[in-house]
Amino acid sequence: MRLAVFASGRGTNLKRILEACKQGEIQAEPALVICNVPGAGAIQVGMDADVEVLGLDHREFPSRKAHEEAVLRGLEEHRIDLVALAGYMRLLSPFFVGRMHDPKLGQARILNIHPADPARYRGPDGYGWAIESGQTETAITVHFVDEGMDTGHVILQEKVPVLPGDTVDTLRRRGLETEHRVYPRAIQQVVSRIGGN
Ligand code: GRF
Repeated sequence: MRLAVFASGRGTNLKRILEACKQGEIQAEPALVICNVPGAGAIQVGMDADVEVLGLDHREFPSRKAHEEAVLRGLEEHRIDLVALAGYMRLLSPFFVGRMHDPKLGQARILNIHPADPARYRGPDGYGWAIESGQTETAITVHFVDEGMDTGHVILQEKVPVLPGDTVDTLRRRGLETEHRVYPRAIQQVVSRIGGN
């Protein structure tokens, strides 16, 4: 089972996923990192772990489809079975999601981690939303990716308390600890399901 991770930012989830593969918590080979932001921390994280890193800056492509075609070529060349989005700040088009669809799984072979409950908040700033809207509890959600934004079928979800006095930064720190625990578990669940098909 060959895994690709897509990231646009710091790459702390990427780092944790690569460690989990090494330690056998995820029974997959991390074969590729794709990053669309030049200079993002995730690039160094992939290189430090000796994983192939493919930098594909979407701004250098004439269209979303042209960029996604380049991403798909990368997945084919590296014989990727499963994709985990880890802070990948690009919405994937129906074209891309369709190409990754696995009829046996009934889902595209793409997972995402969302730092909120998608039933309450969908979008790029889950921790900011929880603080600004005065939540006392939020959630970390791993879900399959479909054509919408943070709308796919939920695989695992864990609650995170929002404490009095929390700022976006303190909440994010607490939330990331949960993310780093939950994402490898969710990926392994899907790896087992695909492997058992
Ligand atoms: C995480 O909060 C993740 O839930 C969200 O983007 C952030 C990525 O953080 N989708 P990192 O780059 O893995 O540190």
